[in-house]
Amino acid sequence: MRKISIAIDGHSSTGKSTLARQLAESLGYVYIDSGAMYRAVALFALRNDLIDGSVNEAGLIEALRDMDVSFGLNSQTGRTEIHLNGENVEQEIRTIEVSSYVSEVAAIPEVREKLVKLQREMGRQKGVVMDGRDIGTVVLPEAELKLFMTAAPETRAARRYKELLDRGEDITYEEVLKNVRHRDHLDSNRAVSPLKQAEDAICLDNSDMGLKEQFERVRSFANRILNAKK
Ligand code: CDP
Ligand code: CDP
Repeated sequence: MRKISIAIDGHSSTGKSTLARQLAESLGYVYIDSGAMYRAVALFALRNDLIDGSVNEAGLIEALRDMDVSFGLNSQTGRTEIHLNGENVEQEIRTIEVSSYVSEVAAIPEVREKLVKLQREMGRQKGVVMDGRDIGTVVLPEAELKLFMTAAPETRAARRYKELLDRGEDITYEEVLKNVRHRDHLDSNRAVSPLKQAEDAICLDNSDMGLKEQFERVRSFANRILNAKK
């Protein structure tokens, strides 16, 4: 059976990565978490004093040349995880501190140029499920299945708040909601490849939809495309 590419874009905490992983596992495809790559660059900036209230753009652009952002396989979980200069930083990139700056970092054209190039290389062979903000519009415009996921900000913040509490972060629901809204705003209004629904994407509002229902629905879209291609 021929392989297809699946692009999943949408707002923060809509379940993009959960769905992308489920699809990749069920189809035997590779999952690529493009957001983790932007988070790794933001983590680099935080660790190297390139953020002091706001991002030192010139310093970060200069540092990009020698920065290595890649994925490595975790042999225990069988999952691919993000590496920054060879170090596995899958856990460190998920903090609220990284979330606070990642959208500023992701709005820098030079950062996007570097990461989009890597993402296109990873997506070239088909058989990939990639999630992010500009996958269907910019990174994999030729993807056979494109989804645009959204849900009410309060629902999304509640989901993310629960995750952060489970990780032991000292945070309030209001802070998480503020971060979700802030990132939605920056991601949707930046000059370079803003978050927007691709014309040929299927929009999925999962405010009242569970993970199982969401997966089954999308898996049936994928089956339809795969069966038509046989
Ligand atoms: O928190 P969530 O899982 O929704 O976000 P993420 O996928 O980890 O992405 C973190 C941030 O990276 C987003 O808020 C965007 O600012 C940026 N991003 C982007 O600009 N383009 C992408 N393709 C993926 C992420
Ligand atoms: O990748 P993205 O930020 O879009 O979302 P995620 O990390 O896949 O999901 C964020 C949280 O929302 C996870 O804890 C999911 O289990 C949860 N979620 C949910 O409960 N119901 C949905 N329909 C979608 C996500």
